[in-house]
Amino acid sequence: MINPKFPIIFYGGDYSPDQWPEEEWMKDIELFKQADINIVTLPVFSWAKLQPAEDRYDFEWLDKVMDLMAENSISVCLATPTAAQPIWMSLKYPEILPVDIEGRKRTPGKRVNFCPNSKKYREFASNIATKMAERYKGHPALAMWHVANEYGTYCYCENCAKAFREWLKQRYGTLEELNRRWNTAFWGHTIYDWQEVIPPSKLNDDDTCYPAIALDYTRFMTDSNIACYMEEYNAIKKITPDKTITTNISGYIKKLDQFKWAKYVDIVAWDNYPTPYDDISTVALKHDIMRGLKDGQSFMVMEQSPNQQNWQPYNVLKRPGEVRLLSYQALAHGADTVMFFQLKASKGGVEKLHGALIPHAGHEYAQKTRVFQECAQLGEELNKLNGAFLDARFHSKAAIIFDWDNWWAVELSSGPSKDLHYFEQVNKYYKALHRLNIPLDIIKPTSDFSQYDLIIAPVLYMTKPNVADNLKAFVSGGGTFVSTFFSGIADENDNIILGGYPGELRDLFGIWVEEFDALIPGKTNELSIYRPFGNLAGKYECGLICDVIHLEGAQAIAGYEKGFYAGKPCVTVNSYGKGKAYYVGTDPEDSFLIGLFQTLCKQKNIFAPLADIPDNVEVTQRFKDEKAFTFILNHNEFAVNVNLGQDNYFDLLSECQVTGDYSLGAFGAAILERREAI
Ligand code: GLA
Ligand code: ZN
Repeated sequence: MINPKFPIIFYGGDYSPDQWPEEEWMKDIELFKQADINIVTLPVFSWAKLQPAEDRYDFEWLDKVMDLMAENSISVCLATPTAAQPIWMSLKYPEILPVDIEGRKRTPGKRVNFCPNSKKYREFASNIATKMAERYKGHPALAMWHVANEYGTYCYCENCAKAFREWLKQRYGTLEELNRRWNTAFWGHTIYDWQEVIPPSKLNDDDTCYPAIALDYTRFMTDSNIACYMEEYNAIKKITPDKTITTNISGYIKKLDQFKWAKYVDIVAWDNYPTPYDDISTVALKHDIMRGLKDGQSFMVMEQSPNQQNWQPYNVLKRPGEVRLLSYQALAHGADTVMFFQLKASKGGVEKLHGALIPHAGHEYAQKTRVFQECAQLGEELNKLNGAFLDARFHSKAAIIFDWDNWWAVELSSGPSKDLHYFEQVNKYYKALHRLNIPLDIIKPTSDFSQYDLIIAPVLYMTKPNVADNLKAFVSGGGTFVSTFFSGIADENDNIILGGYPGELRDLFGIWVEEFDALIPGKTNELSIYRPFGNLAGKYECGLICDVIHLEGAQAIAGYEKGFYAGKPCVTVNSYGKGKAYYVGTDPEDSFLIGLFQTLCKQKNIFAPLADIPDNVEVTQRFKDEKAFTFILNHNEFAVNVNLGQDNYFDLLSECQVTGDYSLGAFGAAILERREAI
């Protein structure tokens, strides 16, 4: 792995010249230059054009594109085209096409439509990757590599079943161990021969009736996709060892364990497509997850739309100023690039109505469009920033634990409530801290906790080996830990940890959860604060899950108002060594969490970079070479005033010295530079 440091903020995105006559290319490039585009990603979906038959290749058109880019000082993020194999390949080698969870063999015609365990696919993919690396290794336009596109196929074919059995042998060694870990005594599913291991299937209506198998299959699919990707990575690395290699993570991040995946990319890259329903904190959280994947290393926004998409149920236009704001939001959270899907709108195909820099109206009208003008302004600004904060880091004292195994297990679990969604719960806690503009990292349950004073683990259902010890060491050393209902319940194979909930965390929290109630939609309870606790007083609505808690050394902060458990504790705190462990045994309204974190952050001396920030204004800080860069983002559709206090800053965007009251327009952004007091 290399740790890439980009020379500039890469600004550009996906471009498909092969969908257009050659005469158009130079006209496209002229427009790119006018928008200060400095990188294009290609040829993401051009495998069929590059390899028209098993023994025939056509690279000449790509040579021309590469040369044109170099002549015009535009870098290329060179993509292997392996996300969409040619139809001839799928027909000649049917093993390449995946089988879905309903047992249906897929037909050619989609993309990301290959079995990750197909030897033939891997062979063809690493072969074209090798050919491209050999051909373009010294090319002046080659900036970096982009392998395939948005991996994520889950395949259930016979090859995958065989590979799964091998994967299980590696993991468990013997059938006895497998049966023990999967608790196959349940419903008489004892396995006497490895051949009896059958991948999950919806043919039996419910693929989750054996959560332990479903969970391992999910892990196995992460490993299968990584192995598939690594064949290309290794092929390219051998030929261009100094070039950055990555692949872009889909914004729907659930399918593959990205913490695992991140070990195999030189830089994390993801595709940011917020829905109109997303809170600003949801986008911020995903950016922070991306930054967390490689322990705080900068990441790439490989794709975002310059305007609407085509694939959402309602493809809302980006409001004037919104694409700029979203771009600065990405940089504010640790991205070092701003890239689009796409630079030119296709004239046909499923994405024909997707937003682009160059619209269907064509070259002569492009510059008259709102989208082009906004992108060109952004390009000019990014250019002027001159990479000032590239590779700058965060200094967070608070962190949220995020874990893919846990995510899958919570949502594979039959019970307690179908409305319990892990990402939503994490987002809820993140949102409260985000409203307070507290700098936050996203970490694994097994991360090194030593730099943090406050750690939050919403719904930490699964305690994998060493996790409880890691948390206990953190708290006994003086840390503050917050967790919630449905935590400490299961081990890494989804077996309940016996002896009382929350299992291994019981002494840390000083409580015993006897049972948990799931509330049906529309039903709520109330939690009432026993005696004012920092910013918390009075009553707050709660619901979804209500734990029935016995105190075993902890103190109750709040109790329930209603139901047969009225008067019993639902929020508790326990002193453990030098620190404190807080347990929130229900799903409270947002204002409770804001009050809780105002209190805990004050106790732990954790502050926002600026005080008294208006609602819907985001503030983050990146640090580099004794300089602090403060990003202020106004997500309101109206102007706001931000008080910068007595300090003097230089705003890199308006290029002015600023201090005191600072006005930010609707969707406005500022990047304030200040030397740190040394
Ligand atoms: C994804 C893909 C792109 C494109 C965009 C459209 O993220 O990676 O190829 O399809 O969506 O929004
Ligand atoms: Zn398969």
